[in-house]
Amino acid sequence: MLFETKSLHLLEEAVNKMQEGFVDLPDFEAEIDVDKLRAVMLDLAERLQNNYPYQHPLYAGQMLKPPHSIARLAYMLTLWVNPNNHALDGGKETSNLEKEAVANIAAMFGFKQHLGHLSAGGTMANLEALWVAGSLHPGKIIVASEQAHYTHSRISAVLGLEFAKVAASNTGRMDMTALEERLIEGNVGTVVVTAGTTSTGSVDSLKDVLKLREKYQFRIHVDAAYGGYFILANNLDPAVAETYALIKEADSVVIDPHKHGYQPYGCGCVLFKDPAVGALYKHDSPYTYFSSAELHLGEISLECSRPGASAAALWATQQMFPLERGGQFATNIEKCRNAALQMYDKLKSISQCDSKPDSDFDSRSKSESKTKSKIGGVGFFLPLKPDLDILIYAPKPGANSQAQVDTGVSQMVKASEVSALSRRVFNCAAAKDLHLALATLPSSLLEEHMQVEWDQDSVTVLRSCFIKHEHIDWIDRIVEILLQATEQAKLELSPTAAEAK
Ligand SMILES: Cc1ncc(COP(=O)(O)O)c(C=O)c1O
Repeated sequence: MLFETKSLHLLEEAVNKMQEGFVDLPDFEAEIDVDKLRAVMLDLAERLQNNYPYQHPLYAGQMLKPPHSIARLAYMLTLWVNPNNHALDGGKETSNLEKEAVANIAAMFGFKQHLGHLSAGGTMANLEALWVAGSLHPGKIIVASEQAHYTHSRISAVLGLEFAKVAASNTGRMDMTALEERLIEGNVGTVVVTAGTTSTGSVDSLKDVLKLREKYQFRIHVDAAYGGYFILANNLDPAVAETYALIKEADSVVIDPHKHGYQPYGCGCVLFKDPAVGALYKHDSPYTYFSSAELHLGEISLECSRPGASAAALWATQQMFPLERGGQFATNIEKCRNAALQMYDKLKSISQCDSKPDSDFDSRSKSESKTKSKIGGVGFFLPLKPDLDILIYAPKPGANSQAQVDTGVSQMVKASEVSALSRRVFNCAAAKDLHLALATLPSSLLEEHMQVEWDQDSVTVLRSCFIKHEHIDWIDRIVEILLQATEQAKLELSPTAAEAK
């Protein structure tokens, strides 16, 4: 695997170009001990080898990917200046870049007017949205699905707002009956709609929430930290596409350019539909806002110092990859979903094959069928067809599982056995350079999809975020390693293997 370094020389070229703007100043150059710098940098490079290979398509676990070269270069270039986008005093041009970049995102969501800015990440952006919600509806409750990001309840606690969870249905999306029951109880100020849950990438139905808003009146905040950019995709199921098309009807929305938007960490974004909420931010900073009567971003942001480099990187990325349907950025987002769908289809067909008698296994290699007889074949539970590009799947324990050996009778596998096997596959796959993630989900969400004995109220499954468009070319390889890892994990967990120890 190679890191992209072909573009590195452009950094020096751009630094030199930027320098031309400051040639009239008297000579001054910061001192630097290059030998010491080199020693520390090489030490650091060695330390950084101790990372999972996030940049490689075989890292198919958490929602992690390195920034695009354009974002990395633009960020580094701006660090020579290190502007602070709190005020125009500290981040003169990068404040303009931020306003332009944020306006592009607002246009992507179809907001006719907006107020918004970048933030440290999705959590800070959601905090601002809920702070505004709480300021406008003091004493009222924030409601979100049990599958919403865990920080919503914590943010509400920080803000001193009451928070209530409603159940998710067996689709992974917010259960609308449960939501309406909570609304009938009363005092709900804001409903958080998640467009792409962290565990399963499920997209709550905004259409249904909007219908309920007509009846019960509340604010709607859309947490699209993960899934926001899927608004540009042309390959979503109609119900999911409908939610995206309706985001412009929400009061606020959060998106994380540092997830699907090619940015380094430290780049979230919050948008409000009504610019008048800016009045809530009013404060008197005695130190800043002297250079211009124009809007200083610190006047509409809870955070004080914010990196101008982040704005520069996002702006530059949007120049290279405009946020438009059918463009390269949108095509890449579509590839991510296609990767998840391909993996889903492949595992499904393997699992259907697996439930047929051995004679149907013509397409399998001899060694595969031999392994099947030892460990009971390789099949997967696939509880949810992905709404976006996150897939959950769990290996089915084979006929030799402990419970079946104990009783000598073929019986339903247990949720605890599925969980143990998922964890073992996670480790075996990592040893083969395939990096997956795990998710623990409640039985209420999965029981209709998984024929298991629920000896515990949750199950741990495997989870892959296909956040890099390059995954699409690696699905066959990923499945191949997954099957090997699953066979190995089953052998390791089989009672015969335990006896042999
Ligand atoms: C749906 C959702 N909301 C909020 C967050 C929090 O964002 P951040 O990690 O940028 O603070 C995440 C992070 O995974 C997320 O998936």
